[in-house]
Amino acid sequence: MATLQAIKYSRGKLLVLDQLRLPHEHHYDEVSTCEEAFDCIRSMRVRGAPAIAIVAALAYAVELHNGGCSATTPEEVIAHLDSRLDYLKESRPTAVDLSNAITLLKLAIRDAKIEAMGHPEAKDAIMTSYINAAERILEKDLETNKSIGAFGATWLQQQYNASPERPLSVLTHCNTGSLATSGHGTALGIIRSLHERSLLKHAYCTETRPYNQGSRLTSFELVFEGIPATLITDSMAGALFSLHREHMHIGAVIVGADRVVRNGDTANKIGTYSLAVLARYHGVKFVVAAPTTSIDLETETGTGIKIEERKPEELTQITGAVVNPDGTVDATKSVRVAIADQRIGVWNPAFDVTPHDLIDAIVTEKGAVVKGADGKFDFSEVMSERW
Ligand code: MRU
Repeated sequence: MATLQAIKYSRGKLLVLDQLRLPHEHHYDEVSTCEEAFDCIRSMRVRGAPAIAIVAALAYAVELHNGGCSATTPEEVIAHLDSRLDYLKESRPTAVDLSNAITLLKLAIRDAKIEAMGHPEAKDAIMTSYINAAERILEKDLETNKSIGAFGATWLQQQYNASPERPLSVLTHCNTGSLATSGHGTALGIIRSLHERSLLKHAYCTETRPYNQGSRLTSFELVFEGIPATLITDSMAGALFSLHREHMHIGAVIVGADRVVRNGDTANKIGTYSLAVLARYHGVKFVVAAPTTSIDLETETGTGIKIEERKPEELTQITGAVVNPDGTVDATKSVRVAIADQRIGVWNPAFDVTPHDLIDAIVTEKGAVVKGADGKFDFSEVMSERW
């Protein structure tokens, strides 16, 4: 079966699916330099914490492969690598995957420098080590997501004693699928795994205002995968939970993460916190799917997370394709439409922080982490080794 691929890579060439044009148009941009990657990430042509990190790491690999570093000594090469990676790190601030990837890449090139010292080809050896390390991030992400899917589905199955005769319905927010990762997805990966095991009754996805990652991207992925699903606006979640309360049909809210800090507080797409409050009120489990690359043990609590604020036009305008009178969509005619008085003041934080008390489980590729008797998350076991 065909799969959705946000990122296509072979050594020396990186193609990134332009997510601003989805679901109506499938267009890949070639990304060959750090500047192009920065712009692609900042403009959200690629988005989602793991995908951002992968595109940044690989864009620099392509730049190096194509002769983008004229440094001659190992020291100059390292300085070049550091400055290019530090530049990329500034593209979007909230998701920690990019900065975690950069830390690993810097370590890899320092190890390579020690090994290569004194060799005439030291410069090339360091650059090749960088390229290998960046490619490893891409390869590892798919494995990681499949493990998250399996662990998450098993955890939910156990919580609800779910079976093909007693399947679960779930709600998800934003887009955490193949489009946000190298493939399979994190929260959407759990939904995919539930579906594969015949444990999924129905998936609900929120529209996810203001950028509509839910309606543009997640609903597209769910339709593509043939998963039974329904789109709701963000403001309908409470009504959905209350309708399902008696029968507990909504078993869980499953979301992704941009940054999980030491105490388990989690930054994710704006609106996640509201869903967590509603879920707790209605007795619905709240599950965060987060690869260990999204965990930041250096920040103690959610108050330490920098929340990206984006431009007002994301609230006051919208891009759409033209709908023909017969209901078909003309993907070639994209229109920008004003949906508010353009003079209104706007607050547009891209993320919010869900306090750890509202989270029932954080599912990583090493297993589901739940709070101990002290009400605290402890990530020491899942964070022991990263590569
Ligand atoms: O602004 P976005 O679209 O990059 O936000 C994405 C999210 O909030 C996702 O839930 C998160 O990055 C996890 S993606 C696997």
